[in-house]
Amino acid sequence: MPIKILIVGAGAVGAFYASRLALVPSTQVSVICRSNYTVVHANGFSISSPKYGSYTFTPHHTFANPRQAIDSKIKWDYIVVSTKALPDVSDDSEILEGLVGDGTSIVLVQNGLGVEEPYLKRFPSAIILSAVTIVSAAQTEPGIIKHNRWTRISVGPYLPGSTSWAAIESNKRFVQLLQAGEIEDAEEYSHSKLQMVRWHKIAINASMNPSAVLSNGTTNNAMVLDPELYIHLKAVMDEVLSTAPKVLGTPLPKEFATSEAILASTQKNTSGSKPSMLLDWENGKRMELEVILGNPIRIAREKGLEMPRLQTLYALLRKAQENRDQAKSQSHL
Ligand SMILES: NC(=O)c1ccc[n+]([C@@H]2O[C@H](COP(=O)([O-])OP(=O)(O)OC[C@H]3O[C@@H](n4cnc5c(N)ncnc54)[C@H](OP(=O)(O)O)[C@@H]3O)[C@@H](O)[C@H]2O)c1
Repeated sequence: MPIKILIVGAGAVGAFYASRLALVPSTQVSVICRSNYTVVHANGFSISSPKYGSYTFTPHHTFANPRQAIDSKIKWDYIVVSTKALPDVSDDSEILEGLVGDGTSIVLVQNGLGVEEPYLKRFPSAIILSAVTIVSAAQTEPGIIKHNRWTRISVGPYLPGSTSWAAIESNKRFVQLLQAGEIEDAEEYSHSKLQMVRWHKIAINASMNPSAVLSNGTTNNAMVLDPELYIHLKAVMDEVLSTAPKVLGTPLPKEFATSEAILASTQKNTSGSKPSMLLDWENGKRMELEVILGNPIRIAREKGLEMPRLQTLYALLRKAQENRDQAKSQSHL
């Protein structure tokens, strides 16, 4: 029986990993599209990558909406969710109603903290796998995916306060599929270590992303080369990296990069890449503020811990977004 995989959120990250999973002979990879449906239905995805070259990925099924996927009556082994995580806009776990059956594993490939909770609440008996990727990719036009660099994806079962061999097995199998699709640095993690990876990535995202927006569009490289911004970024990273062990109850592994190492590597990366939050801001889209800033602040606060630098960035940017959206809706009146 082929392993049936459904991608919900077939944008940059979703389509890129889908295209690698589809190369594995034992898989059938389908997608639910939204604004890119017409193009993808007609031509599939065109992927270009410095590592894998240029190729076309034609999904097994291209669905225009979740209803079509439900009507197909396919029993999905894996449903990969790679929408932007915007809990303040929509609860995307709702999209999976009618698609999750016995034996379906939900794989969340999204930035931020707390992204698993809505899925656990809605599907308490489903297997949930949590994934963090440092890939750099963009959908430059509908159906056109540009993979820029990196492929690393860390995947762990989401098992807060519980154990499940089925989840651990499913996690192992999913990582093996990614590796078979030539994602050599796909790595299997335990629940607790994956949450450490999420916190570590927050140190990068919660410092770089809001600062790029608040400094009026500065790239990562330009920010770390600016002496005052360097001090600011390092302090935000250190705030997160020193809070994470207190929240998680365990030190972060020694092999995780320090703030100095992250900043040194960003100094060397002269590609001029902009963080996704800046791209979203520039395109008038909602930013992943709640999962990258709001949830870490709230999770720490529940343990009696404050992260004042993060809180400042969050408060300012949330208001900036609110003002922008209000101005936009008034101009449409
Ligand atoms: N891009 C990167 O390099 C990168 C790197 C690391 C982590 N991440 C994380 O990965 C996640 C995905 O990011 P991304 O860059 O791939 O975003 P993206 O390119 O915007 O892709 C998201 C896709 O989800 C679709 N979508 C949203 N809601 C949907 C719905 N209700 N039904 C069907 N499709 C829906 C969007 O469709 P529309 O186009 O119609 O809105 C879009 O195609 C985010 O959490 C991001 O932070 C991204």
